Amino acid sequence: GAPVLVDTFGRTATDLRVSLTDRCNLRCSYCMPPEGLDWLPKPELLTDDEVVRLVGLAVRDLGVTEVRYTGGEPLLRRGLADIVRRTAELEPRPQISLTTNGIGLDRLAAPLAEAGLDRVNVSLDTLDRATFKRLAHRDRFDDVLEGLAAARAAGLEPVKVNAVLMRGVNDHEAVPLLRFCLDRGYRLRFIEQMPLDAQHGWTRSGMVTADEILDRLSEAFALAPDAAHDRGSAPAETFTVDGGPATVGVIGSVTRPFCGACDRVRLTADGQVRNCLFATEESNLRDALRGGADDPELADRWRKAVLRKRAGHGIDDPSFLQPARPMSAIGG
Ligand code: GTP
Ligand code: 5AD
Ligand code: SF4
Repeated sequence: GAPVLVDTFGRTATDLRVSLTDRCNLRCSYCMPPEGLDWLPKPELLTDDEVVRLVGLAVRDLGVTEVRYTGGEPLLRRGLADIVRRTAELEPRPQISLTTNGIGLDRLAAPLAEAGLDRVNVSLDTLDRATFKRLAHRDRFDDVLEGLAAARAAGLEPVKVNAVLMRGVNDHEAVPLLRFCLDRGYRLRFIEQMPLDAQHGWTRSGMVTADEILDRLSEAFALAPDAAHDRGSAPAETFTVDGGPATVGVIGSVTRPFCGACDRVRLTADGQVRNCLFATEESNLRDALRGGADDPELADRWRKAVLRKRAGHGIDDPSFLQPARPMSAIGG
């Protein structure tokens, strides 16, 4: 087959997102219930060596150029710095990024930057401690702010901030969140809530849409489409704020889907290739690898898994079913 990860619609996956754990130290309501979930048993998780082997294969033989480590919460993975260091030693060296809730970054930002991490995306949905506690069911607001500051101090730039707005919870905070990020030089993106929570509590009417987000921001800022930057396959539509150079992004996964330009492929913490967040099937690379498969065979399985990628997420289809795995077990 072709030496790249291509699907039947001609999309090529060059952006590999690797979940390193399904565990998390927060319980964001759009993701998991307060009591947590049944975590994957340790023997089912890829070891550090297995992660590096598969990422290495993707980079050397499958055309992957960007690697993002996610979770659950990837900072909970003990071997993270070592995994990053070994990823940075691969040739050709991929871009390496991290999506995190920020807790622990105050301590880990500098060593991770030193290990070769290029940049971070940090989730922050509110500027109010009480709202944070209500939303994430843990009182860790200060840790996130300290993590963000440490990321910038460590040069993990651009520091991007992800915010999911929820009706009646934090949807009045769009403007203050943008001011906060503009003041500190963080790149804010607002994200439409997707039906990926473990509790299956998502509703279309509860989702704050891209249009609504832009309306709210437009009450306080002059937004204009960011013509200077080609969006490419980025999930965020970006807008200049008050003439620029600062920008704000809106990720309208549901109402403005970008599936047609998708360049992503995922590896779950237990070693399954998922060709989409909303995929209904996975390909078990872990068992193949543990069964002694060599690199060409693993590469072949990986290509076949991507080839079957569907055209889009299908959230608007009457027959849509939420994937069996929640966001925390897929990797954002
Ligand atoms: P960069 O643009 O490279 O910084 O990363 P990113 O925005 O893809 O990564 P991040 O992990 O910060 O994800 C931000 C949001 O984009 C998350 O809420 C995801 O739900 C959403 N997202 C990421 N990948 C996909 C995808 O494949 N499909 C859809 N529909 N949404 C995605
Ligand atoms: N819909 C949209 N975004 C989500 N995230 C987690 N769950 C959802 C959901 N149901 C976000 C997190 C994080 C990123 C990886 O995905 O806030 O920023
Ligand atoms: Fe943890 Fe991220 Fe899920 Fe929040 S969205 S509970 S930070 S995995």
